[in-house]
Amino acid sequence: MATQKRCLISREDISRRVKELAGDLNRDYQDCDPVLVGVLKGAFIFLADLVRELRFPVEIDFVRLASYGDSTSPASEVQITKDVELNLEGRDVLIVEDIVDLGHTLHFLKQHLTMHHPRSVKICTLVDKRERRQVEVPLDYVGFVVEKGFLVGYGLDCGEKMRTLPEIYTLEKD
Ligand code: IMP
Ligand code: MG
Repeated sequence: MATQKRCLISREDISRRVKELAGDLNRDYQDCDPVLVGVLKGAFIFLADLVRELRFPVEIDFVRLASYGDSTSPASEVQITKDVELNLEGRDVLIVEDIVDLGHTLHFLKQHLTMHHPRSVKICTLVDKRERRQVEVPLDYVGFVVEKGFLVGYGLDCGEKMRTLPEIYTLEKD
C-alpha cells in the first residue's frame, strides 16, 4: 500500500499562528528574560520562526531525547542524549516542542528540567495531537490541535525525511 501526503496546515496558517503565539509570549514573558529550550530535532524550524517574532530578550538552549518502548509500554522510556548547557537555576524556562503525542517525552523533560531548580517551567508546542495521549502534561501554549494522524513537514520528520517541507502534511495510506 502506497502512502500519500495531504496538506493539513498551510504555510500561511502556520505563519499566522506562530505570530499569534509570539504575541501571547510577548505579553506573558516581557519582563522575565526566559530560557527557551528547544527539543531537537523536530522543533528547530518552529523555534527559529518563533524567536524572530519575540520582542524581549531570550536565551536559547537545546535538548535531544531518545524514546524507547516495547509492546507493553510504548515510548515510555525516555533518555536525554543531549542535555541543556545553560544554568537554569532561578530562570523562567519555556520548552519549545514540535508535537505532543503520548505525552511521555514532555512529562519526562519537564521533570528533568525541574531538577535544575528553575523559577518556572512552561511548555509551548506547535501541535497537540490528542488521540493517543497516555500521560496528561499541562500545555501552556499550543499552536494547533489535531486528533490523530502522522504529521510531517515544518520540522516534523518521517524517518528523517520531509522535515524541510514548509507546510504540515498528514501521511495517508491509499
Ligand atoms: P510522545 O509525546 O512521548 O509520544 O513523543 C512525541 C515525540 O514523538 C515528538 O517530539 C516527535 O518527535 C514524535 N512524534 C509524535 N507524533 C509525531 C508525528 O505525527 N510526526 C512526527 N513525529 C512525531
Ligand atoms: Mg520532538
